Amino acid sequence: MAMKQAHFVKHLIYWSTPFGFDQNMLDTVLMSSKENNKKRNITGALISRSDLFLQYLEGPPLQVDLTFQKIKNDDRHVEITILNEGTTGRRLFASWAMRDDPVKTWMWTRDEVSKGILNDLGSEDAMNIFTRHAKEVDQFL
Ligand SMILES: Cc1cc2nc3c(=O)[nH]c(=O)nc-3n(C[C@H](O)[C@H](O)[C@H](O)COP(=O)(O)O)c2cc1C
Repeated sequence: MAMKQAHFVKHLIYWSTPFGFDQNMLDTVLMSSKENNKKRNITGALISRSDLFLQYLEGPPLQVDLTFQKIKNDDRHVEITILNEGTTGRRLFASWAMRDDPVKTWMWTRDEVSKGILNDLGSEDAMNIFTRHAKEVDQFL
């Protein structure tokens, strides 16, 4: 059976350590992300704090891959680690070219992050974090 490629949504979750984090850097990243993502039909969420980036990207598989290639080469963060990658039928952040939120209270303390808690985060855990985050976002729409 023929299937249209456009029906598949690829998602990719990674975490990284910011390099040179401040409000200005975050604003610049978000501005170009939103502009580019709109053109490429990508949506998602970026959770950030000076010690952590955690991002959910979703969209056409090729566009997600091309965007992630660029993100990987960005020197505003280091130690980029993929946590979960796959295809799903629906988007979690359909109305957000790139939503941005600080690390939430139910996530991790700076102490936990510096002790390497993200190294032990499984792919299911990573997905659950964004499913929960998306639900919370929905409640306030
Ligand atoms: C944590 C982080 C997240 C980013 N997320 C995105 C994104 O979702 N989409 C995007 O196009 N660029 C994103 N970027 C920026 C890219 O690395 C790159 O700077 C940008 O895509 C280049 O845009 P340009 O080709 O218009 O110059 C991100 C960068 C960082 C550090």
